[in-house]
Amino acid sequence: MNILIVYSTHGGVTKKCAEMLAAELEEQNSITFADARNGEIPSPEGFDVVVLGSAIRMENMDRKIKKYVRDNLSALNEMSCAVYFCCGLTKLFKEYSETLLPKKFEPSLGFHLFGGELKPDKLSGVDKLIVMAMRSSIRSQDFEEDDSDHYDLPEIIPENITLLAKEIRILEK
Ligand SMILES: Cc1cc2nc3c(=O)[nH]c(=O)nc-3n(C[C@H](O)[C@H](O)[C@H](O)COP(=O)(O)O)c2cc1C
Repeated sequence: MNILIVYSTHGGVTKKCAEMLAAELEEQNSITFADARNGEIPSPEGFDVVVLGSAIRMENMDRKIKKYVRDNLSALNEMSCAVYFCCGLTKLFKEYSETLLPKKFEPSLGFHLFGGELKPDKLSGVDKLIVMAMRSSIRSQDFEEDDSDHYDLPEIIPENITLLAKEIRILEK
């Protein structure tokens, strides 16, 4: 199958997830990557599967991917399509999935949480301050609530990447 993986990253995590997904699919499929922040996103035409991956920043996803979804809404709804998010506040994943893209967009392979990272040492300036604030807010919730698993600092979730790869591989037959 021809698979298009679009990603939008600032710090590299969302790209890393795109590469992890591709590594599980590339033996049997032809993978095309598109970096949404650097260049055009190819039309869905000619692809069997489109995967759209975006980092979440300031409670939003990449604007160019949002526009791509609006511009290609019917094509994407009629083909095999998945969305994944990389975010720091993973408990907000459901909210992001339900609010950031048009209600009429119904990707057949669903929305997936691939985790994220909050590592201030990799950042500078305002980004570093924001990530440090997010880390302390997660930790203070951790302290107040018993459900500590829920509020752990985020990491990439390889098993969720494998799950989506499995769903895509079923389409190969
Ligand atoms: C400036 C900035 C703003 C962010 N805003 C949010 C946010 O609103 N919600 C969230 O869940 N994560 C937020 N994050 C965390 C990122 O989604 C997380 O670090 C993710 O792994 C980044 O992926 P990337 O390396 O592909 O850019 C923010 C990170 C930065 C640096």
